[in-house]
Amino acid sequence: MPEIIWRKQTNAPNKFMGSGMLPPGAYVTLEHEYILILRKGNKRNFNTQTEKKLRQESAYFWEERNIWFSDVWVGLKGTKQNLKTAEANRNRSAAFPFELAYRLIQMFSIRGDVVLDPYLGTGTTTAAAMASERNSVGVEKDESFKSVILDKISTIVDDSNEYILNRIANHLQFVEIREDSKGPMKYENNNYGFKVMTKQEQNIILNYLTSITQSEDMFFEVCYSVGNDCQLNKMEKEDKDLAKKPSKTITLDTFT
Ligand SMILES: C[S@@+](CC[C@H](N)C(=O)[O-])C[C@H]1O[C@@H](n2cnc3c(N)ncnc32)[C@H](O)[C@@H]1O
Repeated sequence: MPEIIWRKQTNAPNKFMGSGMLPPGAYVTLEHEYILILRKGNKRNFNTQTEKKLRQESAYFWEERNIWFSDVWVGLKGTKQNLKTAEANRNRSAAFPFELAYRLIQMFSIRGDVVLDPYLGTGTTTAAAMASERNSVGVEKDESFKSVILDKISTIVDDSNEYILNRIANHLQFVEIREDSKGPMKYENNNYGFKVMTKQEQNIILNYLTSITQSEDMFFEVCYSVGNDCQLNKMEKEDKDLAKKPSKTITLDTFT
């Protein structure tokens, strides 16, 4: 499939190499990466009612599609990292922003799918999969990344919820601007009551995360606000209500 060029933000003061402003020794800076998109076999089929429903619920907003479906991605902010080891530091420049993984997961999978990252690094892909209600498997050969991944996961509930709320806030802002200039929008989202551009966005669900449990070494289970049958561990079962409460107040209602 056509590839995507991710235009990296490089603001390092020493980003330009070569002989300053004097020709002929110009040396351009590497400021992009390729995202290769490969599909195995034909288009995926959604045959059962459940599959169709999950697909509908995993739709993204019209205005997101208009940005995401470009083959040049700009403006994705890098993530700050707190890497503790020399080896981890060497790999730092290859870490990509949360938004990049999140976007790809939204575009190429549906709720409940499994996302595989064979080179997990700091765990960005798994974090984005958790925020997207996808399962994920990550493989990383360098054990020193373990603590970085654990750090990231320790704040995943609040971080994901903040991200999801921002996404909705951005949509509401879009609706406001659009309706101001073009008049009332035709469709409404069935879950939140806010306006959407197309029929395909009517069943979008953006469940927030309620808890994360580590059940084995580097094995995690995430619970979501609605429609998920996650098994809470023993301790949490005793205090189910508490476990289901997000640590930050989620105010989707205030947006609708
Ligand atoms: C470019 S980094 C991944 C960065 C990651 N996307 C992030 O945002 O943090 C690539 C990672 O792959 C790991 N890696 C390389 N070869 C591997 C292998 N054969 N099996 C597992 N992990 C491997 C490296 O240790 C490194 O952490």
